[in-house]
Amino acid sequence: MKILVIHGPNLNLLGQREPDVYGSMTLDDINSRIKALAKELEIEAAVFQSNSEGEIVDAIQQETYDVLIINPAAYTHTSIAIRDAIAAVGRPAIEVHISNIHKREEFRKRSYISGVVTGQISGLGAEGYLLAVQASPKILNK
Ligand code: DQA
Repeated sequence: MKILVIHGPNLNLLGQREPDVYGSMTLDDINSRIKALAKELEIEAAVFQSNSEGEIVDAIQQETYDVLIINPAAYTHTSIAIRDAIAAVGRPAIEVHISNIHKREEFRKRSYISGVVTGQISGLGAEGYLLAVQASPKILNK
C-alpha cells in the first residue's frame, strides 16, 4: 500500500518556527522518521510540502496513493478547496496537527478538513505523523 504525506504552509520552517509550540524537529527529521517507520511496516511513503493551496489540491488529486496523511497547517482553518479535494477523491485520510488546535486561539478550533477525513490527531507533536502511518493499513481495510 501507498501513503502520501502532505505538509502545508510554513511547515518547511519547523525546527526554527515557534519551537515552544511546534518542537525542535525539522521537517527533514520528521520525514526521515515517517519513511523509516513506513519501510518497517512495508508501506510505500511519499512526502510533499507546499506553501501553496493549489499545489496541495493538485497533490491530493494524484492517483498514486491509497491513504492520505495531511497537516494542512493554516489552510485547515480557511480552505474549502482542500476539503473539497479530499472529499472528491474519497480515499481514507488522516488530519494531523503537531499542536493541539483545540487548546489554542479560537480561530484554530474550526477545521474545514475534519468533516471529510477518517480521523484527526492533534497535539501529540511529531509523534502524530507516526501514529497516522501506523493507522493507515487499518483504515484502508475498513
Ligand atoms: C498546525 C496548526 C495550525 O493552526 C497552524 O496554522 C500550523 C500548524 C499544527 O501542526 O499544529 O501551521 O497545523
